[in-house]
Amino acid sequence: MFGINIIGTGSYTPKLTVTNDDMSKIVDTNDEWISTRTGIKLRCLNDGEATWYMGAKAAEKAIAAAGISPEDIGLIIDSTVTGDFYTPSCACVIQDHLGAVNAAAFDINAACSGFVYGLDTAKRFLQTDDGLKYVLVISNEILSRFVDYTDRSTCVLFGDGAGAVVVERSEKLYSSYLFSDGSGAKVLYAKKMFPQHPFRTSDAVDYGEDFTKEDQFLFQDGKEVYKFATKALPTASKAAADKIGLALNDIDWFVPHQANIRIIETAAKNLDIPMSRFIINLDKHGNTSSASMPVAFDEAVSDGRIKKGQKVCFVGFGAGLTMGAVIVEY
Ligand code: UT7
Repeated sequence: MFGINIIGTGSYTPKLTVTNDDMSKIVDTNDEWISTRTGIKLRCLNDGEATWYMGAKAAEKAIAAAGISPEDIGLIIDSTVTGDFYTPSCACVIQDHLGAVNAAAFDINAACSGFVYGLDTAKRFLQTDDGLKYVLVISNEILSRFVDYTDRSTCVLFGDGAGAVVVERSEKLYSSYLFSDGSGAKVLYAKKMFPQHPFRTSDAVDYGEDFTKEDQFLFQDGKEVYKFATKALPTASKAAADKIGLALNDIDWFVPHQANIRIIETAAKNLDIPMSRFIINLDKHGNTSSASMPVAFDEAVSDGRIKKGQKVCFVGFGAGLTMGAVIVEY
């Protein structure tokens, strides 16, 4: 089977940590509501670092752990919805910082599912390009760029962070499943800057009746996203496992997107997998969008929970709506 070998992991989260009690000072909320409805206790929030910088820090650790040189990397894929620039890509800025002078570099946007989309893209590049040896996959996000800190239903959920992995080709077990449903775009979105040319006669853009929020802060229909998420985690994991005839019970670890503990508990029940096989860190980080899976993975590899040879299922869902799972042997 054509698969990938993850040879290095790294993560970076801002030093500034904000507790639920801190959040209760800026919006009408409390630790009890946030803890019981989401499982979140803390989130790290950006305090001046650029998105690319956080990604580069995570990447430096992943490259060091892999024991390779930046020049050995042939491709950099960066998943982000919160890049610093419309252009260039975060991946190109990170490439320069790392000195990865032999790499092609580009960004992808699959929202919170971005890490699995990036990992699967890396695998497909490795499979079709014999000259490519190492791919660096990074997910870096500063959700606090467009979260509305007057909206208690969203601002308590999100954090900032970055995770990265270095992968090479291997004969190890591999499967993936990716799916998107654009009809759900309207339940989770944030608009970009409006056009600024001097000839405009309107101050805004007509996005159509689906995207009516007038400002550029994040809009989330929490209940609709919740419904999608509780189905997405089991659907994507099962679909990826079924493709290679793997029993879900044979997967040692599930690394899910860290949005809400209740979503993960519902998925675990649905899959009949004990919660002890799910890597959870949302209590410390909140929802860091596409960075959540690689940060959780790096923490679990670093503290020895996830060991070489074990089977790991990364599974995510997010705006788009998107979902996806990648099963690898670590
Ligand atoms: O990665 C992106 C994916 N996003 C997600 O996965 C989010 C999915 N959705 C969720 O996780 C949940 O829907 C939320 C955590 C966003 C909300 O939880 P919920 O149990 O669905 O709460 P709700 O929206 O039904 O609100 C219940 C009550 C409301 O008050 P009333 O109308 O019953 O009086 C809200 O106004 O809780 C209120 N509420 C809050 N109260 C205290 C909403 N946010 C807060 C808050 N603190 N932060």
